[in-house]
Amino acid sequence: MKPVALNDFIYWVGGIDWDLRNFHGYMTQRGSTYNAYLIMDEKITLIDTVKYYLYDEMIERISKVVDPEKIDIIISNHVEMDHSGGLPKLLELCPNAMLITSPNGAKGLEAHYKKNWNYKVMKTGDSISLGKTTLQFILEQMVHWPDNMACYMPETKILFSNDAFGQHIATSERFDTEYPLDIIMYEAKKYYANIVLPYDKQTQKVLDAVSTLDIAMIAPSHGIIWKDHVKAIVTEYHNWAANKTKEKALIIYDTMWNSTKLIAHAIKKAFEEKNIPAQLYDLKTIHISDIMTEVLDAKYICVGSPTLNNNMLPTVAAFLTYCKGLAPKNRVGLAFGSYGWGGQSVAQVEAVLAEMGWQLLPSIKVQYVPDEPLLGTIAQQVFEKL
Ligand code: FEO
Repeated sequence: MKPVALNDFIYWVGGIDWDLRNFHGYMTQRGSTYNAYLIMDEKITLIDTVKYYLYDEMIERISKVVDPEKIDIIISNHVEMDHSGGLPKLLELCPNAMLITSPNGAKGLEAHYKKNWNYKVMKTGDSISLGKTTLQFILEQMVHWPDNMACYMPETKILFSNDAFGQHIATSERFDTEYPLDIIMYEAKKYYANIVLPYDKQTQKVLDAVSTLDIAMIAPSHGIIWKDHVKAIVTEYHNWAANKTKEKALIIYDTMWNSTKLIAHAIKKAFEEKNIPAQLYDLKTIHISDIMTEVLDAKYICVGSPTLNNNMLPTVAAFLTYCKGLAPKNRVGLAFGSYGWGGQSVAQVEAVLAEMGWQLLPSIKVQYVPDEPLLGTIAQQVFEKL
């Protein structure tokens, strides 16, 4: 349980959640970390805490640097309990510490913990001297809760960005110089797609604020610290927040007796004939949070379901509910599926795609089992509309 030095007076003292596989519905196959940062300035300062069950791990790490009771300032950049879960016990340990948070942070912490803590509220433009160094505060409202806040230390050029720029990765390595960059980037993309995506306008505001700073290091509240690839992750955030998509098709479906699967394959062929790369996702075999990572930069999203008891399949409904909540914009949608008699599913799928404001290609609906000539027609139909 060692702390990790960012420089000669700032330490990572967070917790590593090796076993985490589900973060409120988001599959975290690589686990996660909750990053807390200890600043050993004249005012000993802790930025964020950890989930409640990793409190002892955090305290053990802090204790290797300083007696935790000596902490003067605790900064709560985010109310969500993966970062604030350690606060109640920590404030029992150092009751005289100053607790700094955002205006919505004070309301949120009060609502969560029902404690009469002595909050010092900060907003964008406010700053505090820790002695030799300073922390400047930047509200990150709705990236992704109303209370999110970041702080920037000009003397070291470190941005403590909270959830923004984070990734769910459990690892003993702390820096982007020590871990495979393609995995960090993939997990940052998955994080954005599953957590930040609905808040593109708010993210653009944060990026505008960040663009005015000289940043040498981004220390997020999850995963790896950005040191050598700060520019790359900020550029990716600009692309994602701008809803930039590629000529790429996703064909997402579930199937009962393979008819919807046959249609899915025919649609894939149609896209490939148009030289548009297409990927098939059977909802029985892939998690919706992994599909969302691909949705983040895909222009064409095709969703298929047969009709079961007058409805789309529950797996398809779950994906569409999740996707609708994350609200990707400016996509081209296509609903498809097979049916026996009622045949309601395709219209139901299409209604959700329309609710998201997507441009729609004509839907494809086949009774019972499509044969080869019909599948050829389907491919042609899609091709003609593209
Ligand atoms: Fe990592 Fe929104 O908490």
